[in-house]
Amino acid sequence: MPEMDIITSLKQMQEYVLKRRGAGRTIALVPTMGFLHEGHAALLREGRKRADILILTIFINPTQFGIGEDLGKYPRNMERDKVIALDAGVDIIFAPTASEMYPEGYQTYVNLDELSHPLCGTGRPGHFRGVATVVSKLFNILQPNVAFFGEKDYQQLAIIRRLTADLNIPVEIVGMPTVRESDGLAMSSRNSYLSAEERTAALCLSRALSLAADCYRSGELSVQVLRDKVMKLLDNEAYAAVEYVELCDRETLESVEQASDETLMALAVRIGKTRLIDNMILGKGFPCKERC
Ligand code: PAJ
Repeated sequence: MPEMDIITSLKQMQEYVLKRRGAGRTIALVPTMGFLHEGHAALLREGRKRADILILTIFINPTQFGIGEDLGKYPRNMERDKVIALDAGVDIIFAPTASEMYPEGYQTYVNLDELSHPLCGTGRPGHFRGVATVVSKLFNILQPNVAFFGEKDYQQLAIIRRLTADLNIPVEIVGMPTVRESDGLAMSSRNSYLSAEERTAALCLSRALSLAADCYRSGELSVQVLRDKVMKLLDNEAYAAVEYVELCDRETLESVEQASDETLMALAVRIGKTRLIDNMILGKGFPCKERC
């Protein structure tokens, strides 16, 4: 079996990129924290089609984890990731160390105002500062023409679009639909934390979105009513503790009073100790094939 090339040195990675960009080759980038699943693979397959060179980054970014979060136990499996990467047509995996990315004396961070405050920004202060910083650094190091992110992390995608425009970074940002298990659960590296009972309970997130989509389709426009219905469904799940259920504008992420096709419904729910998120745009409906 052919071996997958992994570069850990920042200097080596920059040399690789400069040489290829100098020769007129285009670069597609898919940043991840590894422990790859079908959601990541979908991003990679699209990336393969869109540029000459496809770079996958695997970096568990310490600056986006808060105190008491799962940085220390975040799942990893480089051997399996390499197989998935090879299969998806990745040319190079960039997997730097934390000390290369954040050497002693490091002190520059990228902060966004409004977009990083609502939704996950409330329960995870500092999280998006870490995400925005590492993604900006990866854009500078890898100089991609195009980069791929999942709608599963909707607020993250909105923040990356914004910072790219605000900082005039010449990269096209492509958002990709959420890939789900056949029963509706959004794929996530963190699903590996769930016990069998919790895995079943975790279906309440997609069921909640599906219920809201049905209600909206049948004419319910009251945010209050949609929220209440979803809260009731989630409250009935013994393993679930709701962090937020929000309906907001899909562009600004500001709360709305009346639902419309442009409304984002976003959820964060703790299943046992595992924090899961999911979302949908009301106008697009909930894409689960099975009736959830
Ligand atoms: P990670 O959670 O590994 O996700 C990497 C990319 O895969 C993100 O763009 C995410 O939205 C996308 N993704 C995850 N699950 C998905 C699914 N079920 N369907 C489609 N896409 C999915 O998100 C991060 O890493 C980090 O915050 C990162 C951007 C790499 C910065 O550290």
